[in-house]
Amino acid sequence: MRKVIIAGNWKMYKTQAEALDFLRGFLDHLNETPDDREIVICAPFTALGTLSKNLHGSRVRVGAQNVHWEDAGAFTGEISAPMLVELGVRYVVVGHSERRQYFGDTDVTVNLRLRAAQTHGLIPILCVGETKQQRDANETEAVIIGQLDKDLRGVDQERLVIAYEPIWAIGTGDTCESEEANRIIGLIRSKLNYPDVPIQYGGSVKPGNIDEIMAQPEIDGALVGGASLIPNDFARIVNYK
Ligand code: G3H
Repeated sequence: MRKVIIAGNWKMYKTQAEALDFLRGFLDHLNETPDDREIVICAPFTALGTLSKNLHGSRVRVGAQNVHWEDAGAFTGEISAPMLVELGVRYVVVGHSERRQYFGDTDVTVNLRLRAAQTHGLIPILCVGETKQQRDANETEAVIIGQLDKDLRGVDQERLVIAYEPIWAIGTGDTCESEEANRIIGLIRSKLNYPDVPIQYGGSVKPGNIDEIMAQPEIDGALVGGASLIPNDFARIVNYK
């Protein structure tokens, strides 16, 4: 049975005070949330400890947005898996397209980060997806298969989440058609050794399209950017029908 995981990726938004404010508006909505889904908030590093302390006893898990592959060392600006574990972090986003595009992450470093996360008991959420240009050139399948092939070497697929995020759909309001997302996610699943890996869709997920997305048989959840910053919107998303 595949697990359903709805994760918010706050990116570089929310101070600690704003994170607490979000919780005040969000947690009450979870009384009606069915037990069949895991809820994760992937927050900036500075808000992780605050979230862990204030989510104690709730069903929401804390996630980070990056992790280095060494436990410690001269790596200015990076953070290690033991540091995240100490803060109560359970999940970590790895290989988000913004990390690949703006901060030089490659399939090699993504692979190192995935393995380090798992070594310390964190569950990585591996992001894969194609650019608009690649899609227009009919390269979507090849790009994704190539990413999976390189990123997943030596990775334990039984302790993994994958997010299919077409880059052209991120933050644009331009959602991938749910049938098409379902098709690509089915393709991703066909390339895995372990078929029960939860595979999310990400890219302009909103209260207005979550029900349709989650009705697709291959889609096991969502990785939500902008709409996860607004308590009522993220509540509606996690309470999808
Ligand atoms: O990690 C989340 C994705 O980048 C999606 O962001 O929901 O704002 O399009 P978005």
